Amino acid sequence: MNNNSKKNIIWQNHSITRMKREKKNGHKSIVIWFTGLSGSGKSSIANSLETILFKNNLNTYLLDGDNIRSHLCSDLSFSFSDRNENIRRIGEVAKLMMDAGMIVLVSVISPYKNQREKISTMLGKKNFLEVFVDTPVNICEERDPKKLYQKSRLGKISDFTGIQSSYEIPEKPDLYLDGTMSLKNNTKKLIQILYDRNIISFLNIDKKFLF
Ligand code: ADX
Repeated sequence: MNNNSKKNIIWQNHSITRMKREKKNGHKSIVIWFTGLSGSGKSSIANSLETILFKNNLNTYLLDGDNIRSHLCSDLSFSFSDRNENIRRIGEVAKLMMDAGMIVLVSVISPYKNQREKISTMLGKKNFLEVFVDTPVNICEERDPKKLYQKSRLGKISDFTGIQSSYEIPEKPDLYLDGTMSLKNNTKKLIQILYDRNIISFLNIDKKFLF
């Protein structure tokens, strides 16, 4: 969009605000951003967390890289600029959902530090919980649930993250998860941080039924 057309766009303020939606929902909204290699376990952990939150009547949505790339971002490749565009779009969708009062879980490789920093700035630091799922590339390759590491070794796909394309490790994530630990353990850590950050402080997190 050029500057002239941007000038003719006027932001509309609506009566129903994020705060009103949060009040109605009975909980705050936030974006929980899972970053890590393909096969690191991000999506399984995000899915496990969402299941618990949903069961406890919280409003949630999980945006998953593979699913988003099947539709909204199906026009994008894995080049540097397309990955940036992928993350930009997902960040904007997450922002809208957060504004709609939801706890938004995002599971995407998001390999570049700069991309993640941009999202954090765009959402505001207190709205963005960066979760690094750290699983060594050799373990991801052993797991290879989608057989994509195998394909990349055979030269059938290019720019595969961790093999031909880089992954920049988060230096100070809000939460570090060892992707080789059990799903339950990692989910518990997430529940704890959401509790500590006052997102789910009204839940009795010690109760067994949570899990
Ligand atoms: S990102 O780099 O742009 O953040 P995203 O999370 O959306 O990636 O998509 C990653 C998923 O696409 C992987 O889990 C994998 O299933 C699939 N994929 C296909 N080709 C590649 C590739 N070259 N690099 C990484 N993931 C790929």
